[in-house]
Amino acid sequence: MLTNEKMRERDLKHIWHPCSQMKDYETLPFIPIKSGKGAYLNDFDGNIYLDAISSWWVNIFGHSNPYINEKIKEQLETLEHVIFAGFTHESGVRLAERLVALTPQKLQKVFFADNGSSAIEIALKMSFQYYKNQGEVRDVFISLENSYHGETMGALAVGDVALYKEIYGEILIKTVQAKSPALVSEEEALNSMETLFKKHEGKISAVVIEPLVQCAGSMAMYDATYITKLRTLCDTYGVFLIADEIAVGFGRTGTMFACEQANVTPDFMCLSKGITGGYLPLSCVLTTHDVYQAFYCDYSEGKSFLDSHSYTGNALACSAANATLDIFESENIIKNNKIKIDMLTTLTERFKALPNVKEVRQRGFIVAIELQGYAPEKRIGLEIYQYALSHEVLLRPLGNVVYFMPPYIMSEEELQKMTDVAYDAIKSLNR
Ligand SMILES: Cc1ncc(COP(=O)(O)O)c(C=O)c1O
Repeated sequence: MLTNEKMRERDLKHIWHPCSQMKDYETLPFIPIKSGKGAYLNDFDGNIYLDAISSWWVNIFGHSNPYINEKIKEQLETLEHVIFAGFTHESGVRLAERLVALTPQKLQKVFFADNGSSAIEIALKMSFQYYKNQGEVRDVFISLENSYHGETMGALAVGDVALYKEIYGEILIKTVQAKSPALVSEEEALNSMETLFKKHEGKISAVVIEPLVQCAGSMAMYDATYITKLRTLCDTYGVFLIADEIAVGFGRTGTMFACEQANVTPDFMCLSKGITGGYLPLSCVLTTHDVYQAFYCDYSEGKSFLDSHSYTGNALACSAANATLDIFESENIIKNNKIKIDMLTTLTERFKALPNVKEVRQRGFIVAIELQGYAPEKRIGLEIYQYALSHEVLLRPLGNVVYFMPPYIMSEEELQKMTDVAYDAIKSLNR
């Protein structure tokens, strides 16, 4: 019979895990997961874990969701995959129609890829090539301090989390960072952006932001008014706005897309993660007719957008995405989530009274609890991670920030258990 130990042994012979110092696994063993159901994961030794982070923010309707399972199986019987250049399929077409209907009206075209970082690369390349196709070279991209947009080279270059980026500094494309409204006042952040707009006028392809929440940047949050004002600034200086909704899209901040709260249409919207309910890799970039037209001409003119990935628009992934959107519609998720979002507010109120808690912040279905008084080398997050696991909850703090990004299907009891364990974990820390 397979046990956790046996699985670890086999795994470590060949697998190099992501986002890991592999040597850590000598003393901090990873957990082999046998199955998942609803908000719970089960390991090979019979332990259970309440998934408070939707497994890297993707499984918005939990694990092994019966409806999504059924829809993928249906797709499996007809078509699993087909090359997306020169071919198409019904699931992809239907998904594109639905995404266009759900996003701001000016976003009319959908370019598929298969992971979040690739969607960012596409938005960067498209915005650059839009100008190049018109004879202009605009080689500057602007992003926010403390931002995270993925791990491929272009995505890393616009990101600003030193832990991931610093080591590759010499080989990344040039980008500049404006102050983040999550870390300084809105006015200061906008002034910093405008200063960069002036300094690099005529040279900037695009500004890329994570609307409302800089998730990997310790769940730093800011107001929608910043996005509204940034849109105006982008229009004034003729700069594209890329909204990276990879983590915050699909209901995570309380609305279907975070940009809705700012009443803003970006020029490019990147989506992934929750798009397939966490089942299969898929991403896309939505853009405007104007952008599309800048590439539309005879092939010989050399203005085509030639980006491609083997699994682009994978039919199974598109069927999972359509099933995910069905659930949003049939269960009126955005409206009904409000009850659970309020519940989360109530459940996390008491954290504010703990002496080692600096701040509790929330945007919709994301709650972050920032701790104070711990040096980074104490790896306090790790202590909390281990405490929570031993109490059947999967938390994955970002440094000194404990956060909840649970699947929307968590019951009231499960939300209670998740917050109780985090509360006890924080309370039990030695200062
Ligand atoms: C805001 C944001 N953008 C992009 C990405 C990259 O997506 P992926 O990990 O699928 O490449 C992430 C991943 O966490 C993200 O949070």
